[in-house]
Amino acid sequence: MAGGAWRSMLSVLMGTVKSKAPWTRNFTQGVQTVTLIPGDGIGPEISTAVMKIFEAAKAPIQWEERSVTAIKGPSGRWMIPPEAKESMDKSKIGLKGPLKTPIAAGHPSMNLLLRKTFDLYANVRPCASIEGYKTPYDDVNLVTIRENTEGEYSGIEHVIVNGVVQSIKLITEKASKRIAEYAFEYARNNQRISVTAVHKANIMRMSDGLFLRKCREVAENYKDIKFTEMYLDTVCLNMVQDPTQFDVLVMPNLYGDILSDLCAGLIGGLGVTPSGNIGANGVAIFESVHGTAPDIAGKDLANPTALLLSAVMMLRHMGLHGYAKKIEMACFDTIRDKKVLTKDLGGNSKCSEFTNEICRRVQDMD
Ligand code: NAI
Repeated sequence: MAGGAWRSMLSVLMGTVKSKAPWTRNFTQGVQTVTLIPGDGIGPEISTAVMKIFEAAKAPIQWEERSVTAIKGPSGRWMIPPEAKESMDKSKIGLKGPLKTPIAAGHPSMNLLLRKTFDLYANVRPCASIEGYKTPYDDVNLVTIRENTEGEYSGIEHVIVNGVVQSIKLITEKASKRIAEYAFEYARNNQRISVTAVHKANIMRMSDGLFLRKCREVAENYKDIKFTEMYLDTVCLNMVQDPTQFDVLVMPNLYGDILSDLCAGLIGGLGVTPSGNIGANGVAIFESVHGTAPDIAGKDLANPTALLLSAVMMLRHMGLHGYAKKIEMACFDTIRDKKVLTKDLGGNSKCSEFTNEICRRVQDMD
């Protein structure tokens, strides 16, 4: 596919088309404040890279940096620091690097806490093949939409008797309808053709049955979007055989967690996959979905692409389409040219060199 057609396909995929969805907030003109959570490990390095590229692009964003660690509130419940909560409540929009989840730290995962605090109910991950970054698949162009608040991750587990534990998969009508509506609205606003509900209602007849029923009901209101339903196992099989048959996929929490990583693998992994978490009351947090990479932290070796493309998604969410396009093109052109690439992308360059190359290309576009 020619470069221009490629870029235009990616632009549609990543949401260039202005969304009129009720959960998007109208961002006024002028400089906008975004809460930046750099995170741990390589988080500060890749956040610096994004800030530098945004500055080169003269994007009208002012960053309000906040750290996020678990603290215990007066009632004994775990919460995020009030400064971070207040900043997000005000800005309504965040960009987040990876957060380490210490095992046996006694507090829940910070990512989970953020999701709960801001009711970030939809996880959106566009997966599109990147020209010049070869994987076994050339034409992947799909979006996974994962219900982010309940399902298998509702956290309700208990011991029934010694040696027997029970974990509850919670599916509600409200959350299923909300995520189905989000998926169809996303499809419509981003000129996608179909929505596939991914489920196991043949086995989990009541829980996945309810999820599926809500998807079917919502589909009735979106006759312009083709609706299909498919078992999770069939999706996995078909996905690795021919991912081009999929467009938008919507699913409960656990299936989304696994399938979205599988899809990221098709285009080169978590280092190049953007992600957005859409919440109630117009709040949204965009994030890289890879971890803190402790093995390379502080060595100027990290690849900032995933956080940068998440920031591009964020710009589009804010209606700043021109800046989004400019930065995205500079990033994809850098990867396609293969001259300045970080190690994980097959090159020998440092994070700072890769960042400078994108900055140079962004500035050349002016
Ligand atoms: P990881 O994603 O941090 O690392 C896996 C491998 O990928 C490592 O070799 C690492 O060097 C490489 N890698 C990851 N991101 C990279 C990038 N941007 N550029 C170049 N190489 C990159 O996964 P791991 O080691 O399982 O987790 C480390 C920590 O991160 C844990 O504390 C975990 O809980 C946390 N984590 C946080 C996530 C988040 O905040 N969204 C997601 C996954 C893990």
